[in-house]
Amino acid sequence: MQRDPSEKLALEGGPPAKRTPFPTRRRHGEREKRLLEEVIDSDVLFYWFGTKVREFERRFAELYGRKYCVACSSGTAAVHTALGVLELPPGSEVITTSITDMGGLTGLLYQGLVPVFADVEPDTLNLDPASVRERLTPRTRAIIATHHAGLAADMDALLEIGREAGVPVIEDCAQAYGCRYRGRLTGTMTPVSAFSLNHFKHIECGSGGMILTDDDQIRYRATLFIDKCYQREEGIRNPFFLAPNYQMTELQAAVALAQLERLPEIVERRNQLGTRLDKALAEIAGVSPQKVRPGDKHTYFLYLFRLDLERLGTTADEFSEALNAEGIPNKAHLITGGMPVYWYRIFQERTAFPGSTYPFGDRTYPKGLCPVAEDAFDRWITMDLFEHWSEQDIDEIAHGIAKVAWHFARRHAAAPV
Ligand SMILES: Cc1ncc(COP(=O)(O)O)c(C=O)c1O
Repeated sequence: MQRDPSEKLALEGGPPAKRTPFPTRRRHGEREKRLLEEVIDSDVLFYWFGTKVREFERRFAELYGRKYCVACSSGTAAVHTALGVLELPPGSEVITTSITDMGGLTGLLYQGLVPVFADVEPDTLNLDPASVRERLTPRTRAIIATHHAGLAADMDALLEIGREAGVPVIEDCAQAYGCRYRGRLTGTMTPVSAFSLNHFKHIECGSGGMILTDDDQIRYRATLFIDKCYQREEGIRNPFFLAPNYQMTELQAAVALAQLERLPEIVERRNQLGTRLDKALAEIAGVSPQKVRPGDKHTYFLYLFRLDLERLGTTADEFSEALNAEGIPNKAHLITGGMPVYWYRIFQERTAFPGSTYPFGDRTYPKGLCPVAEDAFDRWITMDLFEHWSEQDIDEIAHGIAKVAWHFARRHAAAPV
């Protein structure tokens, strides 16, 4: 039954919209224990001598219908590896999004590549193809398409730009398990794509990551890149390029394997719950969920919605506070520390490496570079959305948002001009 949005705000002594506590979340169980026990019993934790990393790679590639998966130690390592295998000369420019995790940028800097930040679309917060096109120069050597929060970037447009410019696109799928772009799975549309298994992701093993590819050469270079450029398959130890040690251990793979078994179910459930909330929000004046294109499948790594501040006459902080009081945990300003990534000190002060502005050279990242991204931090609210929640949880969340929006909008409309 629809509850009345004019109900008194919890902040002002009314009944909180969230009447029942969120169920507790338990992510690991017997299956993880069993597989971990197998690893301990085998007495082998090192991937090269073990079986679990191999099996995880095989199963993950199979799930995505790709030829190869190479597992590694984190999503940061995966993006680094994806860039490393493309063999881009230092000083090359790589266009990426202004709203992402630092882990999507770290490898770029280590490879001596220059990040070029493009703006985002106001209604999805994904890379805006028009902005990417504007940032192209003769030095552009790759584009990173990050699928933000579980929603696919506009891949047709980005792939077309990549084709025209003759540069590869890499998908960063760290936030986007099981997500689809016009029916196609994200992580299957580019020569190499990257994933994360960190604590916050749909599935996790403490820390972990992987790349997917269909290309024999890319697979081979990735296996060297994550392992000090040791050619273990040939038994050759004579490194010929700079490569870190990004090995996944058998322990990580044991947990990742158990988690992988639940991935399809997690993806479906998040999609169902997120879609339910999207529908509810579509009926609430003053708020809009991320725009999902026809044929796309959002898998809600996070749940984001935008405030129509002009209509609500409030700030994201005030809205967030009122919603928290309703028993609905949320944050104003997105998850990147309240700013687009190029505002981070490392880019503003150009201090990636001590005593040098390498690899930035003369490039600076002034405020105003990506106006849509900058503005988004004052307009969007971020919430968790978990697969173990019920329809009732979602309906109570929707009621809380409806209440807060109704009260702000009404007060604003009544305020003297
Ligand atoms: C888009 C994106 N890329 C890369 C990473 C880095 O992943 P990890 O934390 O596993 O190193 C993250 C992590 O949050 C991410 O969200």
